[in-house]
Amino acid sequence: MIITRIADKVTKGADQATETVLILSTSGNPSSDLNGEERQADRRPRATMTTAFITGITGQDGSYLTELLLSKGYEVHGLIRRSSSETHLSRLAHLPSDANLYLHHGDLGDSGVLARLVHEIEPDEVYNLAAQSDVKLSFDIPEFTADVTGTGTLRLLEAVRLHSPNARFYQASSSEMFGATPPPQSEQTRFHPRSPYAAAKVMAHNLTVNYREGYGLFAASGILFNHESPRRGELFVTRKITKAVARIKHGLQDDVALGNLDAKRDWGFAGDYVEAMWRMLQHDAPDDFVIATGEAKSVRDFCKAAFGHVDLDWEAHVRIDPQWFRPAEVDYLLGDPTKAKTELGWNPTVGFLELVAMMVDADLVLAEAEAAFAAVATNP
Ligand code: NAP
Ligand code: GDD
Repeated sequence: MIITRIADKVTKGADQATETVLILSTSGNPSSDLNGEERQADRRPRATMTTAFITGITGQDGSYLTELLLSKGYEVHGLIRRSSSETHLSRLAHLPSDANLYLHHGDLGDSGVLARLVHEIEPDEVYNLAAQSDVKLSFDIPEFTADVTGTGTLRLLEAVRLHSPNARFYQASSSEMFGATPPPQSEQTRFHPRSPYAAAKVMAHNLTVNYREGYGLFAASGILFNHESPRRGELFVTRKITKAVARIKHGLQDDVALGNLDAKRDWGFAGDYVEAMWRMLQHDAPDDFVIATGEAKSVRDFCKAAFGHVDLDWEAHVRIDPQWFRPAEVDYLLGDPTKAKTELGWNPTVGFLELVAMMVDADLVLAEAEAAFAAVATNP
């Protein structure tokens, strides 16, 4: 295996603006015969440390999981897509330059690359976090969503089955799979997906169970309810609200346009939820687990809390724009995490108001910097 280390400057940190260096690796010979006996000798010496392969490493969860695994002494390999900009690496940019982290170009749409990487990395643990994860967008790009979020999981499961069958596999399943089924939702609740995204996640979930039962893979599925953080993508409703609150507070905008304020979600902190992923792969047997706080709030509740945190009246700044309504809505998600608490010893540590405050405070720092920059730009 050829590993080339490339020092690469990235300019925005995970939660704050910082500058640091990442270690990237490009690996392997694309023409390798992955099944040839003699290829075994070419494979890199087995690391004594546990090795993880993460798809979706540049996303919110990927960044928190990477931090967790590095803190536990893992060698971490991540799949990254080719991008014309480096901003998609910003959630990893705060990691130290000598972190035991290797990034490989690839895509869940490219089964050959997935097979090669799984063969070469020989991971002990595989975390499949990559997805087209925007529910509303999945109505606009349904085929792409099905291919990446659904079939992409199949491609990775095949790579693991053929090239690293002893690896433990984690699938990022979603509470969206429950869709229209009334709360509370547990591992026993039937699925009723309400979007192309949710339908693709049901497919990926069922395949994960099938590869566990059919091939004996250690394939676990975490049915995670919504989890948020300062690193949340800016189009998800929580971050859209907290970013708007901070910018309104600093005079950078006047209001924010939202859709359905009545939808209820069980919102937790992403840092807690990656701990649950890791625990699932340390469990004695592969299984499915609901991960949730057991408390649901509406989008309206979130607005009240976020604007209230900076003494603003949310009703003066929130307007409804039908463009944010969805063809089919998921009205009420409320998870029952009893099984995860009992069998994994997992518990959420961050409550609703603490989560809202954490996100608003982080966005206030960014808005303050943006306002200062704007002031200098107007009065150089
Ligand atoms: P996210 O921030 O949207 O990150 C998605 C990741 O997938 C990014 O790293 C993205 O790369 C990558 N990706 C997208 N398309 C890809 C492709 N074709 N090939 C390779 N990588 C691709 O999502 P998240 O919030 O961290 O969620 C992680 C996973 O958990 C997702 O599967 C999501 O559906 C699932 N989930 C999330 C929640 C939640 O509340 N956050 C709840 C349940 C389940 P780029 O950076 O290049 O775009
Ligand atoms: N995004 C967004 N933008 N949502 C809005 C808006 C808005 O302006 N206004 C109201 N909402 C409502 C949506 O209609 C939905 O009912 C709720 O806010 C939450 O929307 P999102 O934050 O986009 O999250 P989601 O619940 O659809 O999906 C997220 O959680 C899933 C787990 O349940 C994503 O992270 C999925 O990838 C994840 O699987």
